[in-house]
Parts: sequence; structure tokens; C-alpha cells
Amino acid sequence: MRGRASECALLDDLVAAVRRGESRSLVLRGEAGIGKTALLECLVESAADLTVVRAVGVESDVELAFASLHQLCRPMLGRLERLPAPQRDALQVVFGLSPGPAPGRFVVGLAVLSLLSEAAETRPLLCVVDDAQWLDRASALTLAFVARRLLAEPVGMVFAAREPGEELQQLPELQVRGLRNADARALLSSELRFVLDERVRDRIIAETGGNPLALLELPRGLTATQLAGGFAVPGGQALSGRIEEGFVRRVETLSEDARRLLLLAAAEPVGDPLLLARAVGRLGIAVSAVDAETDGLMRIDQRVTFRHPLVRSAVYRSASAQERRAVHMALADATDREHDPDRRAWHLAAAAAGPDEQVAMELEGSAGRAQARGGVAAAAAFLQRAVALTEDPGRRVERALAAAQASFLAGSFDPALGLLAVAEAGAIDEFQRAQVDLLRGQIAFASGVGRDAAWLLMKAASRLESLDLGFARETYLNAWAIAVFAGAAGADVLLEISRAAQALPSPSAPRPLDVFLDGLTLLITDGPGAAVPRLLRSGRAFLEGDVSAEDCLRWGWLATSAANTTWDDDVTARVLAPRIVQLVREAGALAQLPITLAVVGTISAWSGDFAQAASIVAEAEAVAAMTGSRIAPYTRLRLVALQGMEAEAAALIARMMELAGEGEGIAATNAQWAAAVLYNGLARYAEAAAAARQATSGAYALFGSMWALPELVEAAARVGDIEIARDALARLVDSTQPSGTDLARGIEARSRALLSEGESVERLYREAIERLSRTQIRTELARGHLLYGEWLRGADRRAEAAAQLRTAHDQFTAIGMEAFADRARKELLAIGERVRARTLKTRDDLTVQERQIARLARDGLSNPEIGARLFLSPRTVEWHLGNAFAKLGIRSRRDLSNALRGLESESISA
Ligand SMILES: Nc1ncnc2c1ncn2[C@@H]1O[C@H](COP(=O)(O)OP(=O)(O)O)[C@@H](O)[C@H]1O
Ligand SMILES: [Mg+2]
Repeated sequence: MRGRASECALLDDLVAAVRRGESRSLVLRGEAGIGKTALLECLVESAADLTVVRAVGVESDVELAFASLHQLCRPMLGRLERLPAPQRDALQVVFGLSPGPAPGRFVVGLAVLSLLSEAAETRPLLCVVDDAQWLDRASALTLAFVARRLLAEPVGMVFAAREPGEELQQLPELQVRGLRNADARALLSSELRFVLDERVRDRIIAETGGNPLALLELPRGLTATQLAGGFAVPGGQALSGRIEEGFVRRVETLSEDARRLLLLAAAEPVGDPLLLARAVGRLGIAVSAVDAETDGLMRIDQRVTFRHPLVRSAVYRSASAQERRAVHMALADATDREHDPDRRAWHLAAAAAGPDEQVAMELEGSAGRAQARGGVAAAAAFLQRAVALTEDPGRRVERALAAAQASFLAGSFDPALGLLAVAEAGAIDEFQRAQVDLLRGQIAFASGVGRDAAWLLMKAASRLESLDLGFARETYLNAWAIAVFAGAAGADVLLEISRAAQALPSPSAPRPLDVFLDGLTLLITDGPGAAVPRLLRSGRAFLEGDVSAEDCLRWGWLATSAANTTWDDDVTARVLAPRIVQLVREAGALAQLPITLAVVGTISAWSGDFAQAASIVAEAEAVAAMTGSRIAPYTRLRLVALQGMEAEAAALIARMMELAGEGEGIAATNAQWAAAVLYNGLARYAEAAAAARQATSGAYALFGSMWALPELVEAAARVGDIEIARDALARLVDSTQPSGTDLARGIEARSRALLSEGESVERLYREAIERLSRTQIRTELARGHLLYGEWLRGADRRAEAAAQLRTAHDQFTAIGMEAFADRARKELLAIGERVRARTLKTRDDLTVQERQIARLARDGLSNPEIGARLFLSPRTVEWHLGNAFAKLGIRSRRDLSNALRGLESESISA
């Protein structure tokens, strides 16, 4: 190794840290041939006292889900028995060791995490993954997840990749660069048997950018004159192209048999020497002189390996289509039908010259198995090939639809759209056409074009009307939700969807979901008066278990949110929200979890349970990192707005507006609503009024626009814009009247009080406080006391004002609403009351995660249970808990309850 002192030192440090019991991860990044594999070898050498497990990504395997992960975990599979049953089962299924339903990604991630920590119990563990750019996506996601969640285990994970996939991009990275001039020169001369023109040498070094492989390979096969004259060095190409070309040139000089042998090996991704030998026999290749004839480009021992991955691709790409088909056919023949039917079907497909129904059917069968092993992407790949081999027009449509569906689930949107076009070009019937529209809509929504998606889904729904009414209604519900997410841009389509759904013949025995759809659409066409009673009814139906578990999974978040628009906090805050989130968590329905957490977290914040809201934010972020799902930071913003943290709120608001611009239009309304709350807290009423006016300016008073109305009443009343305030009040009453809950009536009374005069004011404030105190929404109750106190002070009733303001102040402080607390404090000071300012806590603050873990431990969850909830290994949980104990000054779980109570009351009295 030349010129890699600093890189090696860094790797040594990494190993030393792992030895000490710390977790580390690193991605070595750099172009082909730059020396990543060489550095990994150097790393492995310096880790002789660690357990080392390795995997290498293989280009032709990228579609085989969990292939690389299996390779990495293979030496540790003996420890599977020690994993909790669900985790063990999950790994056995994805590694094809036992049959079973496809496990969720989380469970797999968690299982690998447990497996690694388990292995690291005996000796520190080093995982080394080379050519990570060719990891299959399922493996990459899982490994990246594990790398990010490792903390207190003696486990190191080092990847080498040309362009790391997006999964690995969040890990620490070391860019591997070309060798410096002196080192490059030395390396080049070590390969040359003759003297080189100095200028040519310097040019080569410059052209190769110090890439060691290029330096080593370029001179080969060139005569001294060619090289010295510099004629044979092609310029202006991508480096890997140039290197690959060098290999192609070398392959071309080989014997016919040697070339066919290389091609066979290149087409065989497993590297199984026995399989290769069988195929060699079928093609009648003479293997007598393998080593000599393949010029050291390939080696056969326990495994078949190429000198460099580029040799593999060079060999494969330089062969003709006909030659490739022939070797794939030989490989299919050599592959056992019983033992590995999927791989065999794959080779058969590659061997087919034209449509072939038999092979297409086998691929279809394999797709089912591939999917059951957890690989939607693999299923999609098999189905795509099946489509290409299908001649019958009817089957072609069916298979194209299935392939499109699988591709969509696998997150490959463009191929999915291509397949839909194939389906449409075939013999497609009405029902299939509706399915095409539905899938197009879902793809559009998932790629962030909510408004178009809503139109597409509406089209699909109307096609379905004559075919399947139930399916049509659900599709309208889907469309409705998507249109709401598009915000202002979706207002027109929202109205059309609502009208179309209402025009459907009403079902003879309406299910709760039908009542729900009725309520939602009436909200748009007729306003809250007509809608609220139905929504109250369907909310109760969700609550009382009249809705199937599957529908709760899919629609629970919307039902929770809708119950919120009816001011039904009893349903939302107390019962439905926790139940739905639990259901979604337990089912591992990752696609639904982010949106469910967003709804539930917002409610927690509103209820004044900031610790829980913060925990939900942490969980949501873990999920987002795992799935790559993208949803605006609703809970976090709601939380910081109520806390009155202006800088944090401003950054989040900017982010929300950005996301709104990209299609999630409802984020804009939520951002403005949060801004209104923030500025009301900071007593900057003009700004609050401006934000609240924007939030409430939409065509429909839905969700955020509705909840911003009381903010507008308060802000506009404070700046003296009485007209605006009255108008907002009138719109608020539209929904509070039909609702009639204590929350609705309480907020209404508080808002009316702001705009009233004379005796009624006091009566209204008292009513507001009494009603709000019967709800779950502590933030609004505290604000009731504040406003009443402010009014009393204006009326010069100082003692009574002081009592109200003090109550408000205490409640705000207990919740953590600092800006509002300050507003109360200033009022108190103005009437000469003394208020202790918040003193800094003497104890170290627990981090969000420590607090969250401590709370779960207090509630009786074991470390593995907490780990499963937060996607952490039990050891990491233990480590956080240890830190929490130290900060709280306690020694055991039994003390947690008191210590946490102490901590919470400390912030109350501070
Ligand atoms: N620092 C170095 N000094 C000498 N030879 C090197 C050095 N780094 C890499 N090589 C050689 O260059 C070739 C390509 O390196 P490799 O590690 O396989 O690259 P990569 O994995 O980045 O594609 C190998 O033959 C390797 O031995
Ligand atoms: Mg390499």
C-alpha cells in the first residue's frame, strides 16, 4: 500500500473504538479502482482480534432481496435461536430458511440489530461490506438502519461504495481520493519493465488522477512504443469506461473457450464452482487450461471470483446477445429445479429469445415466492420479465398490472408507469382500466403531486361506480384524503369529489365507513352544520369497534383528525388516538405510521402533554429514516409553536412552506396556524392576526383553517380589527354549535367574551373556564385563565386578576408553554405582583430519548420491549437508561416513578 497513512490511521481509530465497546460506522467512497477494497483489507488486517463478517454486493444480484444481508449474517446464523421469536422468524423467512408471511422491514432491521449485538457479546464485531453500490435495496435499507441505531455495542460497520445508494448517505463518510504524485509515480514504475518518457508518465498520472487500478492496468497489453508514444491511451472517457475497455481488450485476445468460460462465470452471480462446472460441461468447454488461458482475470477456488468487478461487467457487456442467451440456457440447465427454481426461472428468462408462455408462467410463480421472502423489488423484477415474455394480449394486461403494482410498492415509480402504459396498450377491460387509474393516482400522490393524484383517483372511482360500488366509495375516500393534502391547490377537485361521492346511490345498510365518507363530503358541500352530526357518529363507530381492524389501519388517522374537526376531544385525545397508533404500530404498517403519528402527536401537543409529543416526534423520525417516507413535521412544529420557541418555529415553518410548494399544500395552512399560535403567545398580535388570516383564507374551514379561527378572534380583537374578529367568530360558531362538546362550547365562549361588553363578558369567561376544565385540552384551559385575567386587570379588579393570572402562569409553566407563561408574568408584574422567574434546573436535563426510555421503563416495559418500540437494541436501551439513572441520581427502576414525578413537578414550581 502506498500513500494511505492517514486513511489507515482513521481506520485504526475506528477499530480501537470498537474494541473499547463503542459503535462506529463509516462509508469509504470513491470511484472504481481508487483503492477502497485495498483499504478494507488493511482494516481487516488491523482487526485480527475482532470477529469479522463480510459481504460483497454483486451487480447481477441487486434485485434479489436480502441477498447481501444473508451473506453478511451467514456466519452468525447459529445464534438465531437466541433472538426473540418474531425476530428469529423474520430472518428465517427473508433468508429463505423457512416459509412464512413477509415480515415488515422494521422487524428485520431489529432482528439484525439483535443478531449483531448478540454476536458482539463474545468478541467485538466488525462488519465489512464491499461494493455497497450493488447491495440489493432491502439489504441496504436494513444495514443503514442498523448502522444508524448502533450506539453502545462493540460493533463496527464499514462499507465501501462507488456511489453509495441514498440509504447509506446519512452515514459518516470518508472520500477515498487518488494517490498523490510521488506515490502514483512509484506505483506506475513498479509495473513497468522499461523506461518511460517522463512527459508521457506525468500525463498518464494526470489522466488517471492517481487511480491505482488505472495505473496498474493501463500499461498492460501495450507495447513500450505504444505507451511511450501515448497513442493507446484513450482520452475523454469516464474512468471506469476506460478501465473496462482495457479489460475488454484483454478478453479479446483470449481463446474462444476461455472467453466463453468467462462469460459463463460473469452470468452466474452466485459464484458457485460446482454449478459452473456443470454448465461448462453442457457447453462442452475444455477447462484444462482455465488458469493459464483466462490470464488471471478470474479465479476458481471455493468461490468463483473475478479479478475486479469491472472484469465481470466488461465480459458480460462485450458479448453478443446470442452468446449471452446460450450461457444463460446452460446455467438454467445446470440449476436444480427443486433446489433453486427461482434462479432457474431467472436464467430461463434471460435465455428466451422471444415470447415464451412456459417461462413467463414460471417467472410468475417465482414472483410469488420472491415477494413472500420480503422482496417486493424482486417480485417486480420477475413480473416485469414475465410481461416481456407474454404474447397473449389478455394475460399481458394482467401481468403488466401485477408488475406495475409490485413496482409501485417497491418504490420504482417510473417502471410502474411504463408498465401501466403496456397494460393500456393491450386488451384491457373496464375494471382493469379503473385499476390503472387508481394506481396512477397512488403513484402521483406518493411522488408528491397530490392534486393530479386526486383527479386520477376520482376518475378511477367514477369508472368503478358501475362495477363495484363499495370499491368506488373507498376510492372516493382515498381521493378525498389526497385532495385535502394538496391544500389550496386541491380545493376545486375536492368539491368535485365530494359532489360525485354524494351522487352515488346510498347503500341499503350504510357501514360506518359510508357514514364517514358522507360526513367528510358534506363538510365540503354544505359546511359543518350538516357534516358534524355524521362525523360525530362515525367517530363513535371507530371508537366502539364497529370498524374492521383493516379499515382502522387505513383510515384511523383520518377518523382521528376528523373527530378533531368536530371538537370531539373525548374521542380523539383520550381514546381513539392512542388506540389507532397502537394498532398501526403492532401491525408494523409502516406506510401508515408516519401520518398516524403526525395526527396523534399534534393532539398530544394540544393536550399539553409535551413529553409524549416529543416522544412521538422521535419515533416519527426513526420511521421516516427507515422507510424514506416524507411527511411535513406537523407535530414538531405544533410543539415548538406552543412552547413559544421562535427560532425553531421559523425554521420549521420555512420547511413546511417548501413542502407545501412541492405538493403537500396542507402543510402551508398548518404552518400559518402554528405561526398564529406562536405570535399570540409572544403577544405580537398583528403578526398573529396576519398568520391566522392566511390560515383561514382557504375555501373550506377544514382542520388547520378551522382551528386557526379562535387564534384569529384573539389576535384581531387585540389589535382592534373588530370586523375581522367578528367574522372569524361567526365562522367558528358554524362548527362549535353543531358539535356542542365542552371543548367546542368552551372555545366559543372564550372567543365571544373577547368581543363582548358589559356583564356578559364575565359570564362567558367563567363558562369557558368551566367547560374547558372538563376537556383534555389543557393548553386551551390555561389560555382561558389568561384571557380572563387580562380582562379583569383591564377592569381594574386586581386581586381577582392576580388569581387568574397566577393560575394561568402555573399551568403554562407546568405544560412548558414558555411564551404564554411570560405573557402571564408580564401582566402580573404590571399589577405589582412578584413572580419568580424560571430558575435553571440544577440537574442535568434528560435528553428526549432518555426521558422517553425512562418513561417506558417506569411503565413496566422491559429493555427488549422498549427496544422494539423505539427500534433500538436492548443494549442501547440499557445504556440510555444508565445515563438517565445517573442524571436522576437513582439506582433502580423502582425509583423511576418518584424521580420522574419529581422532575415534572420541579418544572412546575420553577
Ligand atoms: N495505495 C495503494 N498502493 C498500491 N496499490 C494499490 C493501492 N490502492 C489500491 N491498489 C491496487 O489497485 C487496484 C485497485 O484497488 P481496489 O482496492 O480494488 O479498488 P476499488 O475497490 O476502489 O475499486 C488493486 O489491484 C489494488 O491492489
Ligand atoms: Mg473494490
